[in-house]
Amino acid sequence: MFLMKDIIREGHPNLTKISKPLKLPISKSAKQLGLNLLKFCVISQNSELNINYDLRPGVGLSAVQVNVLKRIFAIHLTDLDGTILSMIVANPKITYRSKEMIYLNGGEGCLSVDRETKGLTPRHKEIRFEAYIYNPKLDKFLFKSMTLKDYPAIVFQHEYDHLNGILYVSKLYDSLPDAKPLLEEKTLKL
Ligand code: NI
Repeated sequence: MFLMKDIIREGHPNLTKISKPLKLPISKSAKQLGLNLLKFCVISQNSELNINYDLRPGVGLSAVQVNVLKRIFAIHLTDLDGTILSMIVANPKITYRSKEMIYLNGGEGCLSVDRETKGLTPRHKEIRFEAYIYNPKLDKFLFKSMTLKDYPAIVFQHEYDHLNGILYVSKLYDSLPDAKPLLEEKTLKL
């Protein structure tokens, strides 16, 4: 599994590169990469295990962050209503972005950014995307279209940006008068 030492940090040239689409059908090694990205997220949020492995909690991790320039990432988060969203996303394409913008009250964070940052990052309140999403029961990736809004949409857009070589630190603003805060104070480590 991945450890903090495997995660490349701000300043590494690959973090600003555009990742390449996975070849279809998605290979076993790409699937394993996705499973390892997801495992990192799950274990990093377990307060006992993350101490053993010395992992910083993260709700999302993209392949580029472990220095693999492929368009795949994992998300594991608990939404504000308690719903768990856990998925491995390959070759995503955002097909709709709402005009309405939101931001995470306390600002975002990232496993590839070690410093404290000040500022707010605007995100679309709702997005629709197409992607190959891993289905654990069938043990394969299925092409799907999905809509996400609010917190999961913020996390998705943060990870999607990674695939295009964009870090949230390039999108920091002191105030966002045209965007609304998410209701609950929450910090993100992506
Ligand atoms: Ni990140």
